[in-house]
Amino acid sequence: MDKILVHGGHRLDGSVRISGSKNSALPILAACLLTRDQCVIGRVPDLSDVHYMLQILTRLGAQVERASGTVTVSAESIRTDAPYEIVRKMRASVCILGPLLGRENEATVSLPGGCVIGDRPIDLHLRGFEALGATVKVHAGNVKILAPKLTGCNISMRGQHGTTVLGTDNILMAAVLADGTTIIEGAAAEPEVVDLAQFLNKMGARIEGAGTSRIVIEGVKELHGAHHEVIPDRIEAGTFLIAGAICGDTVRLRRVIPEHLDAVASTLRQCGFTIDSGPDDMTIRSNGAIRPVKLATEPYPGFPTDMQAQLCALLARADGVSMITEHVFPQRFMHVAELKRMGANMQVEGATAIIEGVPTLSGAPVMASDLRASAALVLAGLAAEGVTEIHRVYHIDRGYESIDDKLAGLGAHIEREKE
Ligand code: EPU
Repeated sequence: MDKILVHGGHRLDGSVRISGSKNSALPILAACLLTRDQCVIGRVPDLSDVHYMLQILTRLGAQVERASGTVTVSAESIRTDAPYEIVRKMRASVCILGPLLGRENEATVSLPGGCVIGDRPIDLHLRGFEALGATVKVHAGNVKILAPKLTGCNISMRGQHGTTVLGTDNILMAAVLADGTTIIEGAAAEPEVVDLAQFLNKMGARIEGAGTSRIVIEGVKELHGAHHEVIPDRIEAGTFLIAGAICGDTVRLRRVIPEHLDAVASTLRQCGFTIDSGPDDMTIRSNGAIRPVKLATEPYPGFPTDMQAQLCALLARADGVSMITEHVFPQRFMHVAELKRMGANMQVEGATAIIEGVPTLSGAPVMASDLRASAALVLAGLAAEGVTEIHRVYHIDRGYESIDDKLAGLGAHIEREKE
């Protein structure tokens, strides 16, 4: 297992190229199962979650090839069961349910467990499959879904904590091959859902309204192969914006879609930073003190839950008291205890973190608990005095391509060691 050592206090300056989006790549790779033809997906990030997805596709019978960021998938014939030993490694493997059901009218997949960011049910996915005409049985840790025929219908994706991203993806991927029209109300509007819909349309699907809360899908008989390039990772980009905010002079992001980062950029402006955007680049400059903010995480276009931990790391040194409420995953605060070990003054009350800024953080040995929490610890380490030793960094490798090399390229003193 690796650990990352961050020697804090070094200014960052320069530019960094943002990778393809993990959360787009995963469902898009799963969608390749919907056709027997070859699909070619570009700008696929080199991440352990992507490797797990490619393993799952291979196990299901697809031929998968990967050459520097381009993945080719040919799923001429596939099986429809994915056992625990391959599914358990990644919760997002649940997004193979939709394509298996759409293409083969059945799927048996081990149920994903909870994870450190909270209880993560898939009731809304299953409710959607049932509305399309499937029967769902949960037995011995597996969910078995059968649909002799999928028929278009009206489905609501609204749950207790708002909409669901992978649930919307799953229903899209099943409904593209259903008989008739499916209308998803309360659909997730995340750019990753739009990216998936664009890929499906290139395959011959007829989807309208992706990016709004109402998506209309006219079922088609079959899909064909397609080429697609995954969108830039807005969460990786947001993390580098905060790296620039935390100890940057001027940090420029290349190959981003600035519009996808509107909520993050507007929050960072409120904190006192200057952000300029070009057509596919963004630059952040620091202006001295960090102003505190009050905000809540929301589904897109709101402030993303996947940026909450990183924002906590920034606000740990703000000039005053900030409050961040988690509306998407109310228990997603594992990073708080670790940040406190670095000298942060923050408390969690219910689903709100109350952060009283301190002038300095100090490096400490800390433990990564999940992907975004690990990123927050790296960011705090950049700003801290002394050395921060981040253990269990396999979490960070799930979602950030070469984060240590990219930060080192900006001037951070960061190294990776075997434990
Ligand atoms: N929810 C339900 N029932 C469901 C599905 C979701 O109650 O059937 C609840 C969840 O418990 C949560 C909320 O709805 O409170 C939103 O969850 P959502 O389903 O949208 O999450 P997801 O689709 O499983 C994706 C991303 C997450 C990101 C969330 C929210 C992927 C692979 N994962 O998860 O990304 O936090 O949307 O934006 O796309 C990450 O990258 O670090 C990450 C966790």
